Amino acid sequence: ETRFEKIHNVIFNDSKVASIVIAEEIASLIQAKAEKNEMCVLGLATGSSPIKVYEELVRMHKEEGLSFSNVITFNLDEYFPMEKENIQSYYYFMHQHLFDHVDIDPKHINIPNGMVASKDLNAYCQAYDDKILSSGGLDFQLLGIGRTGHIGFNEPGSHINSGTRSITLDHITRVDAGPAFQGIENVPRKAITMGIGTIKKAKRIVLLAWGQNKAEIVKKAIEGDILSHIPATYLQEHSNTTFVLDNEAATNL
Ligand code: GLP
Repeated sequence: ETRFEKIHNVIFNDSKVASIVIAEEIASLIQAKAEKNEMCVLGLATGSSPIKVYEELVRMHKEEGLSFSNVITFNLDEYFPMEKENIQSYYYFMHQHLFDHVDIDPKHINIPNGMVASKDLNAYCQAYDDKILSSGGLDFQLLGIGRTGHIGFNEPGSHINSGTRSITLDHITRVDAGPAFQGIENVPRKAITMGIGTIKKAKRIVLLAWGQNKAEIVKKAIEGDILSHIPATYLQEHSNTTFVLDNEAATNL
């Protein structure tokens, strides 16, 4: 088996249709677990890429009765330092796009705390990974990809077995986040992120990438050598990962 058989990529004409297909996969998983009286553990991502997936899940909740009562979520990352109330926080993003509109138990929502005291950071990150494991592990992990090839905030140089930890953001990542913060000088220099090792333990991984802007990094992630320089290439070693792309993001494949 070559590594190329491992990352499957699926190309859609339209990111809206692709997002609906992914939301349906997530909904089926939630319902299959519910039928067995089991919790469904979802790893969730922020950024523009997953927004339409969340929109569709909210629609399915409102119009089709999809329940999140058996769902536990773990978000990938959060800026550091970052207050929950800040509209640039990933905490705010997740509540705005998903959690405020569905019947998830707030106790089942896990998002890295961007205000944890620096001296407690290591223990906090270890506990985050431990909690994922004790919840049964990630059944499904949704990912976007940054132009540096980061997944979560695992920037170039991340170790394949890394756990949840604090990291320093790459310059390109801060440039890309600049507009949301009214200027790069306001973008935090650090973040807390699930590690590559944490992500790779997920039973199923779906990475979303839309638009021409992602074409170059998508090609490297899928076809390039597995290198710490491009952390998304580590996904080639995961046996159940799909890259879901629109035509523009797939241009170079
Ligand atoms: C941020 C997030 C990543 C996300 C990336 C791409 O850096 N930490 O998890 O994948 O942005 O964002 P977008 O989906 O907006 O292109």
